[in-house]
Amino acid sequence: MHSAPTWDPEQYLRHSGHRTRPFLDLLARIPELPATAEGRPARIADLGCGPGNVTALLAERWPDAHITGFDLSPEMLEQADKHHAGTTPGGGWLDFRHADAAHWTPDEPYDLIVSNAALQWVPDHPDSFAGWLEGVVTGGTLAFQVPANFTAPSHALLGELCDSPRWRSRLAGHGRRFVHVLDATEYLGRLTDLGCTADVWETVYAQLLQGEDPVLDWVKGTALRPVLTALEGDDAAAGEFLSQYRDLLRKAYPPGPHGTVFPYRRVFAVARKEY
Ligand SMILES: C[S@@+](CC[C@H](N)C(=O)[O-])C[C@H]1O[C@@H](n2cnc3c(N)ncnc32)[C@H](O)[C@@H]1O
Repeated sequence: MHSAPTWDPEQYLRHSGHRTRPFLDLLARIPELPATAEGRPARIADLGCGPGNVTALLAERWPDAHITGFDLSPEMLEQADKHHAGTTPGGGWLDFRHADAAHWTPDEPYDLIVSNAALQWVPDHPDSFAGWLEGVVTGGTLAFQVPANFTAPSHALLGELCDSPRWRSRLAGHGRRFVHVLDATEYLGRLTDLGCTADVWETVYAQLLQGEDPVLDWVKGTALRPVLTALEGDDAAAGEFLSQYRDLLRKAYPPGPHGTVFPYRRVFAVARKEY
């Protein structure tokens, strides 16, 4: 059993433009919430809210909502609290709480439970859908987006390097921790079996990254967290690992005339509770 990785909000936010786009695409497909029709402020939960920047975007769509971001990482929660907690311009309220999405159950009725780029860290998350939906009001929504890029060279090379003879004893398994994502059709089946109207799709973003070794820089904010956490305190080993991984990434993602192309596949699900 691996311990939870340490997160670095600053590193994560370095690619916030590309990372925010899928959330906006998800948000665009979320139907109007029951609260709006009933003339009351919406109640919203954001699971794995990270630094809170996408949580804050929910307040733009539902200005008077009470929105709570839940996360496991003290570093991420500190950043979210510092920059986003408190009253919102529309008279709503944003707060952030420590919670493990693997064990979280709604403590009050929610109009919307949303999660962006976080459930891939929660191994059995599809088994939690029923419990989460129990806490969603009729006509409310469960919506999430998960990366589905785990067979791409960025992630496959990370897995292979961690399992190579040089690193196996310290890092075996650390590069392959993202196997918890289902196919779009499997999510569709799970959510419709639970009595929802579900809209599920996948998108490949043809991302153009700038700068030197931009794929390494991207992965340092997410998939590399478990490795960096395991090598914490051993700068020589971390440096050696990073330079080996960087060389592999340079071959897999050579810079082009306009930047480095880093395709990224993501799965989206928007499930409206009909019962
Ligand atoms: C890639 S970040 C996404 C952050 C944010 N949702 C966004 O879209 O910018 C993943 C987040 O999931 C959180 N996370 C990972 N496992 C979790 C768990 N079991 N429970 C709650 N949060 C978790 C991490 O701490 C991290 O903040």
